Amino acid sequence: MADIYTPWSMNGLEMPNRLVRSATWEGLADDKGAPTHELILALAALAEGGCGLIITGYCYVSPEGKGLPKQTGVYMDALVGPLTRITDAVHTAGGKIAMQIVHAGGQTKQEWTGFQPVGPSAMTHPAFGEEVAELSVEDIHRIIDDFALGAARAKAAGFDAVQLHGAHGYLLSQFNSPFTNKRQDEYGGDWEGRGRMMFEVLQAARNAVGPNYPLFIKLNSVDGLEGGLELEDAVKMAKRLGDMGIDAIEVSGGQPAAGKLGAARVVKDAEDEGYFLDNAKAIKEVADCPVITVGGYRSKDVVASALDEVEAVAMCRPFIRQPDLVNLWKTGDAKATCISCGGCLAVGLEQGLGCSQELKKQKKGGA
Ligand SMILES: Cc1cc2nc3c(=O)[nH]c(=O)nc-3n(C[C@H](O)[C@H](O)[C@H](O)COP(=O)(O)O)c2cc1C
Repeated sequence: MADIYTPWSMNGLEMPNRLVRSATWEGLADDKGAPTHELILALAALAEGGCGLIITGYCYVSPEGKGLPKQTGVYMDALVGPLTRITDAVHTAGGKIAMQIVHAGGQTKQEWTGFQPVGPSAMTHPAFGEEVAELSVEDIHRIIDDFALGAARAKAAGFDAVQLHGAHGYLLSQFNSPFTNKRQDEYGGDWEGRGRMMFEVLQAARNAVGPNYPLFIKLNSVDGLEGGLELEDAVKMAKRLGDMGIDAIEVSGGQPAAGKLGAARVVKDAEDEGYFLDNAKAIKEVADCPVITVGGYRSKDVVASALDEVEAVAMCRPFIRQPDLVNLWKTGDAKATCISCGGCLAVGLEQGLGCSQELKKQKKGGA
């Protein structure tokens, strides 16, 4: 289909190559969700490193929808000014940047938000252990508005695109999944009922940003849980999103409660890479839009062969270790040095975006 360095576009947004930085919580915002100087530098470094499209870490659209400490927010107008500093820096470095917007739903902790976690149905969250309260239809409508307002603020702050977070067990993914959605009303039941919240969020966000602005989604193709979302339903949902005019679908899967079958898996060799590619292919067959694959890509060869199937390849952990990976692949070693140890999560909580292996090396060097 294309090689890594072939340009492509999404609803008028031109990108110079097929490599995308998948959304990565950076842990570099202040208590109100405003970006710190370190966050701006980290995102600009990805642009300088040649990344074709940078997707921010998930940004929360409502105060109770925050998912982790030091997460970037887009829940109030006062954040538009501070967020503009990100887009200015990335554009000055020659990059393109999308904002990922999220509501964490039940997948968070009251100590981080000040609110009881909420979801489609009441439950004890299997990974976070919190009591999740069931959302009323009124609350659902308010959160749909919050997504639309968040998308409008991202556009106003100069972001080149908005990505809805419909993956990894956050609120839209909780609605899509029969594991977390036991509702009997119009927001539950079959794939159409469970997907209704996501479809209404897409429509509201589209109304807010207009037809000529790139609006795409990261979608779970499977949950990796017994009783969770399966590919068959995800394919039907993806087709509907395509029919509604979504500009691209990034196909992911898993969630924290799925353990080893989560979104960020261990990758030992080339065979382990691209663990959601088959699901992306199934979605590509039915959805009338570009498809981005994510999940375990580490080598240029595997990325190149995935590009025979879909429009673009996204990576998260490799860019934490090597923000200049895209430029490096043009000239140098064709394999990322990320060993998928998962240490980046703990580093993020402790000090913000960073690779635990690189920090270990630096400590040894300094000793
Ligand atoms: C530290 C860290 C932060 C992440 N933050 C997000 C996020 O904000 N939004 C999201 O959709 N996925 C997030 N993910 C998942 C990744 O985007 C990606 O789907 C997953 O890590 C698999 O890709 P990889 O093998 O290239 O890392 C995160 C993963 C890690 C390790």
